[in-house]
Amino acid sequence: MENESIIEVQNLTKTFGKFTAVDNISFTVKKGEVFGLLGPNGAGKSTTLRMLSTLARPTKGTATIGGYDIVKHDTEVRKLIGIVSEKMIMYNRLTAKENLWFFGSLFNIPKDVLTKRVDELLELVQLTKWKNAQVGTFSTGMRQRMNVVRALLNMPRVLFLDEPTLGLDPQSSVEIREFIKKLNRENGTTVVITTHMMVDADLLCDRIAIVDQGKIVALDTSANLKKIISGADTKILNLNIANLTSELIETIRKLHCTDSVTQENSTTLKILVHGDEAFDSVIDAIRKKNGKISSMENLQPTLEDVFLHITGHQVRDSADQKIQNEKHGPFAQQQRRIR
Ligand SMILES: Nc1ncnc2c1ncn2[C@@H]1O[C@H](COP(=O)(O)OP(=O)(O)OP(=O)(O)O)[C@@H](O)[C@H]1O
Ligand SMILES: [Mg+2]
Repeated sequence: MENESIIEVQNLTKTFGKFTAVDNISFTVKKGEVFGLLGPNGAGKSTTLRMLSTLARPTKGTATIGGYDIVKHDTEVRKLIGIVSEKMIMYNRLTAKENLWFFGSLFNIPKDVLTKRVDELLELVQLTKWKNAQVGTFSTGMRQRMNVVRALLNMPRVLFLDEPTLGLDPQSSVEIREFIKKLNRENGTTVVITTHMMVDADLLCDRIAIVDQGKIVALDTSANLKKIISGADTKILNLNIANLTSELIETIRKLHCTDSVTQENSTTLKILVHGDEAFDSVIDAIRKKNGKISSMENLQPTLEDVFLHITGHQVRDSADQKIQNEKHGPFAQQQRRIR
């Protein structure tokens, strides 16, 4: 049964005092799928993952994993899942093998089975050579591979990964992504990953839920999410203006046809425009202010653009936006959402 769901989330909500971190979200994850929660800092990704992995209790709503309720049948749920989060502990003075033995023993796995599994898992992440080395001597990338392997000791059907490439160098990020893909392909493990990295979501996930301020604002495959932009008659312009000034940027921002204007560097603007005459309007406005266009390019949409298009702000702006909204109250937030 290809389309059978393994995770069902219904109206899941988590509040901390008056603050709603996860706001009434619903989605399903299919068996064997790599599912991504993509969003900026504070969007509620980790809180969602913590609820699904039984580490935090929902304030409202429900979710099941493999048919088991995450609150009522948490013990059963724990048998099905593995979790990799930033807050994992490894014992620096123990070797790679000793660490895995220790954590494996917490699962009541028979000793001979565990011994074999530890060796296999170390091989899987290419750490066999280092099995007798203290984890304290490992690089960040090696430690993260240990974290992932640790979550696999109980051979979970669902693996939750919270920001698995955070703080890794590009090479280690590639390795972790490759490993997640391999695990998914060869073992059929369902993977739920949170990330604020567009590239992770794009390269890894079968489907992506874009989250912002506790809500799912879009959910689809990467390709379909990008169609939201092309379908909406929106184009992305990369403009190089030799004599770019803040006054000129303001002028472009005020144009009716521009959805967003982002300054990439001292001479480059990235502009989301809509409408047939958008290009002409932008160029006319720049010429009128004696701006010198040195190059212009029409870009393919990225997930970042999709996020910007849907929420009206950039992934990296979101933390600041939140502070502003708190300052100016709910009305400011409402206005921003309507854009
Ligand atoms: N235990 C807690 N008590 C109070 N507020 C919390 C708690 N845990 C999370 N929050 C708040 O809930 C919001 C969502 O947090 P969460 O960690 O889920 O976000 P995130 O999407 O994982 O962000 P990040 O990219 O920073 O990891 C944040 O504003 C955070 O400050
Ligand atoms: Mg987080």
